[in-house]
Amino acid sequence: MQPVTIALAKGRPAKQTIKLLQAAGLTFEELDASSRKLVFYNEDQSVRVIFLKGMDVPIYVEKGAADIGIVGKDNIIESQAEVYELLDLGIGKCKFSIAAKQGVSLSTDKEITIATKYPIVAKRYFGQKNQLIDVVKLNGSVELAPLIGLADYIVDIVETGNTLRENGLEILEDIETISTKAIVNKASFATRSTEIQRIINQLSTVVG
Ligand code: PRP
Repeated sequence: MQPVTIALAKGRPAKQTIKLLQAAGLTFEELDASSRKLVFYNEDQSVRVIFLKGMDVPIYVEKGAADIGIVGKDNIIESQAEVYELLDLGIGKCKFSIAAKQGVSLSTDKEITIATKYPIVAKRYFGQKNQLIDVVKLNGSVELAPLIGLADYIVDIVETGNTLRENGLEILEDIETISTKAIVNKASFATRSTEIQRIINQLSTVVG
C-alpha cells in the first residue's frame, strides 16, 4: 500500500512543524529543515513527508498527491483549494494586514494600487469594502513596493512587525489572523480514514 503522504511547507515554518511532528511521535529518517532532500520516510515506510513551497501544499492535498498538508492558513485561503481543514496546530501565528508608508492613510480614491503575494485575499477584502483595486502580484520583498512607488499599499503577512518597521511602513488595517493548519484530501479522508485519523489524533495531543 502507498504510504500516507504528509506535505510540509519548506522555509521559515519548517523547523517548528518538524518539532511538532517529533513531539507527536511522528519521526522520519534524516528529516531536517535545512536538508535539500524532499522526501523522508518513517521507520516502517507507512508514512512519508514531502517538502514543498507553502503555496503548493494545498494544491498537492486537493489533487490527492498528498493526503495531509501542514500549512499556513494564508496559503490555504489564497490557493482556494477544496480540502478539509481538521486541526489548528497553534503555531505560525501571524496576520494579514494592509500597510503603507508612515503617515499615509487608506484612500477611498476610485482605484488604489495594492502590491501583494496574496491577490485573492486582497481582492476579497477590498471587494467587501466596495473599493476598486489594481493588484500588483509580487513573489517576495513586498514591503519594497510602496518605498519605490510601485504601489500605494501592500497586503502582506505580519508576524513580528520587524520588516514593516525596518522599512518605515505601518499597519493601516488588519484583515485576519493566520496560523498553521492540518488539512486533508477529501477522498483520502474517506478511503484512508483510520490512518489519517491516527496521525491527526497524534498531532492534536501536542497542540497547545
Ligand atoms: C514574510 C512576509 C513579510 C515578513 C513578515 O516574508 O511577507 O515580508 O515575512 O514578518 P515579520 O513581521 O516578522 O517581519 P518572508 O520572510 O516569507 O519573505 P519574502 O519577502 O521573500 O516573501
